[in-house]
Amino acid sequence: MTEKTINGIPQIGFGSGGFKGDDCYNVVQSALETGYRHIDTAQRYKNEAEVGRAIADFGLKRDEIFITTKVHEINYGVGELRRATEQSLEKLGGPVDLLLLHWPSTEGVEPAEQYIGELCQLYDEGMTKRIGLSNFTIKLMQEAKQIFGDRKIAANQCEIHAYMQNSRLAAHCKSTDVPMIAFCPMGRGMVVDDPTLIKIGENHNATAEQIALAYLMNLGHIVIPSSSQKHRIISNFTARNIELSADEIQQINALDRGLRVATIDWNIGWDEKTNIERLARFVK
Ligand SMILES: NC(=O)c1ccc[n+]([C@@H]2O[C@H](COP(=O)([O-])OP(=O)(O)OC[C@H]3O[C@@H](n4cnc5c(N)ncnc54)[C@H](OP(=O)(O)O)[C@@H]3O)[C@@H](O)[C@H]2O)c1
Repeated sequence: MTEKTINGIPQIGFGSGGFKGDDCYNVVQSALETGYRHIDTAQRYKNEAEVGRAIADFGLKRDEIFITTKVHEINYGVGELRRATEQSLEKLGGPVDLLLLHWPSTEGVEPAEQYIGELCQLYDEGMTKRIGLSNFTIKLMQEAKQIFGDRKIAANQCEIHAYMQNSRLAAHCKSTDVPMIAFCPMGRGMVVDDPTLIKIGENHNATAEQIALAYLMNLGHIVIPSSSQKHRIISNFTARNIELSADEIQQINALDRGLRVATIDWNIGWDEKTNIERLARFVK
């Protein structure tokens, strides 16, 4: 794999969330044609079969593509996590590169020792090359680490973008050498009109979205942007070539407004205050 990696994970991946059926097959093929070698899927997206088919039909050797999938939290019951993961692997053509817990068990419905312990067992049996977390706060990461023992937390996939920088969690991940995979890295398109990003883009002949992605990669995060449009799939991918100056990074740091765009109805609170009122004005 020639793309830049962070702890073995390609730094830019394609997010398949929201795509189903032929649409999913086609965008994953477009991403692979563009050069993406990391595809993010999940049981929750109900598209693992199409992702698996698109990857198989593309014809690269399996070890040239990095596949991440996530266990849906409704599958955390005793024996359920294994059963659901076996089904995922069948759809995805065998063991995956990274298996994440999509969310912590909501309000502690399932005991952490049980479902995190089961994830560890699957790793020990070789069903995945790496295991990790998604949407885990600092406290939950620390609890998970106790159960992981000597096994590495390969990543924590969380909402992180110019308007929601999740700085405390990012600092914790950095200090514990757990890469962050940034989902909604363009704030679901909300950063497109940002004047600071547009202005910085002029220095690099780049768009605001490309600068938003470059910012996260310059900080050492992994990004998984998504788009239904081939030209954006391509332009997002080229963002990995942009190097920002320290001053430009400072300017983007100052854009943080705790603006959370993902799943606000039932999920856990982050480690810093997020701005859901402001979000209500933006979300259509
Ligand atoms: N672990 C989790 O809990 C979790 C939660 C949410 C998402 N995810 C993962 O993260 C991936 C990415 O997140 P996301 O799709 O929610 O957000 P995103 O990648 O920040 O934004 C996608 C949106 O931005 C638009 N867009 C993409 N590229 C653009 C560009 N260059 N210029 C202007 N607009 C652009 C897309 O519209 P068009 O299609 O029209 O281009 C789409 O509406 C998902 O696919 C999924 O794999 C994980």
